[in-house]
Amino acid sequence: MCGIVGYIGSKPAYPILVKGLKRLEYRGYDSAGVALIDDNQQLNVYKTKGKVSELENFVIQKNISGNIGIAHTRWATHGEPCSENAHPHFSSSESLALIHNGIIENYAVLKEKLQAKGYVFKSSTDTEVLVQLIEYIKITNNLDLLTAVQLALQEVIGAYAIAVIEKNHPEQIIAARKSSPLVVGIGDGELFLASDATPIVEYTDKVVYLNDEEIAVLSNGTELKVVNLHNAEITPDVKTVVMNLGQLEKGGYSHFMLKEIFEQPDCIHDCMRGRVNVEGTNVALSAVIDHKEVMLRAKRFIIVACGTSWHAALIGKQLIENFCRIPVEVEYASEFRYRNPVINNEDVVIAISQSGETADTLAAVELAKSKGAFIYGICNAIGSSIPRATNTGSYIHVGPEIGVASTKAFTGQVTVLTMLALTLAKEKGTINQEDFLEVVGELNSIPEKMKEVLLLNDKIAELSKIFTYAHNFIYLGRGYSYPVALEGALKLKEISYIHAEGYPAAEMKHGPIALVDAEMPVVVIATHNALYEKVLSNIQEIKARKGKVIAVVNKGDTIISKIADICIELPSTIECLDPLITTVPLQMLAYHIAVCKGMDVDQPRNLAKSVTVE
Ligand code: G6P
Repeated sequence: MCGIVGYIGSKPAYPILVKGLKRLEYRGYDSAGVALIDDNQQLNVYKTKGKVSELENFVIQKNISGNIGIAHTRWATHGEPCSENAHPHFSSSESLALIHNGIIENYAVLKEKLQAKGYVFKSSTDTEVLVQLIEYIKITNNLDLLTAVQLALQEVIGAYAIAVIEKNHPEQIIAARKSSPLVVGIGDGELFLASDATPIVEYTDKVVYLNDEEIAVLSNGTELKVVNLHNAEITPDVKTVVMNLGQLEKGGYSHFMLKEIFEQPDCIHDCMRGRVNVEGTNVALSAVIDHKEVMLRAKRFIIVACGTSWHAALIGKQLIENFCRIPVEVEYASEFRYRNPVINNEDVVIAISQSGETADTLAAVELAKSKGAFIYGICNAIGSSIPRATNTGSYIHVGPEIGVASTKAFTGQVTVLTMLALTLAKEKGTINQEDFLEVVGELNSIPEKMKEVLLLNDKIAELSKIFTYAHNFIYLGRGYSYPVALEGALKLKEISYIHAEGYPAAEMKHGPIALVDAEMPVVVIATHNALYEKVLSNIQEIKARKGKVIAVVNKGDTIISKIADICIELPSTIECLDPLITTVPLQMLAYHIAVCKGMDVDQPRNLAKSVTVE
């Protein structure tokens, strides 16, 4: 949510900043802006509604010189998306410019206080309040910028990642974080700042992830000082990031989403590397082994997550209960954190998050930790906030996910949950060797089976054309396929704006069936498993009401394929691994329907990939 980039060094800042903003556009894209200090110590701010490309058009013919600058791409929280509300925001004297990601919760009180002192506001944002507050503190107490920022942030309640520059001090950027991510990149005579490492990795692999309430002072492109709000100096922990630049490009695909769907066989392979042996006879997730006492002692698992990660959690519940015989609860992190849940030190809480930054999931982790639970993270973004807040965890290792609609992260999360359940079940002795070998062997063959599924892309693209008329879709599944139905529906609504709902197939009779008529497409996951006959009956009920059934079946199906209107035929696997196969055609279906409807697949309206506000 909101992307921040900063640069100070000897190169022209603007091209680096704009390129960085494009890398971060997945975080928000309703307006964009840049602030630069030129050689004559002019502080120039340019900002406009719309995407980064619109900012590029806006600055043609403008003075974009300068070796220091900050830039922002916005996902609106306070105030509509328009150029006045876009960042950077000037202070009243226009000597400070500030960008911000997060929410200043007490902005209204602070604003009133400043208005009473005569401050006038041009925007309806909480961010402008912060920059005015910093200026007010700075001028009234005759302080330097760092001290003013420290004092201002002590008055702030809420979440922030900020960067601020001062007209008369082109030698420094001051940046700070609390509950919103911020990374400093250390190059050769240049320093970078960004919401995540993606804008930085093409210049340097040396980064410092700031912690909450830390302030970074980036001076002259050469000196990085980190202090806390009370000016105690902190030694920066310099880490090396490994990221393949190709992962950040579309690589010939028309959208990141399609690229990421197609990457899944390789991603699952990478996710299993070093965890499942090449023969496919053993699986060992080191975090489970290393913490087996606490994991074996657990009376209960609670999985907290949001969005697509929450759907993966529902599959994880079935896997862990099935193999490990431990009760598992799945919670929306946003609900869990506010309802005084019963948690104690016999609970293991698993937090699932692609970005590792989702504010509600992070807060749920902190709450569970404070009550003594052991916290296990399943994340994708290396070094992000959730993995740093957990006791242990396993990365899914699927590479950066750029498309706003999550695809490869979901299958990566399900893969890690499968490996977790198997590793723990083996330790607990709740799975027999034969079943263990069958699941591990099948897991090992999933990447090849996914490749077969991807061959259906053209067919699914063709059939998608039929359904662009639809205003509603129903997705049905049972058992392990129920969360897949939820995920399929979520994908469709996120990117095509068609209303779609997922249900456990048998629940259809309790309401949703009233919606079924000849216009209603119903996607049914009907692969061959223990509930096949039951799903068959559910399909007959839909057909009796003339619904259009798109059935996801296994190759060679001779029963459902005869009564469904359209069949998508998939390779078979065992029931517990079915989601890794059946999700893929649903991702493709959503993608192609959205493309047929001319939608902005990678940056759907109103959404952001990394939701760092609650
Ligand atoms: C946003 C994204 C979703 C994602 C959810 C949770 O809504 O658009 O794709 O599933 O956040 O994100 P996380 O990074 O915690 O998995």
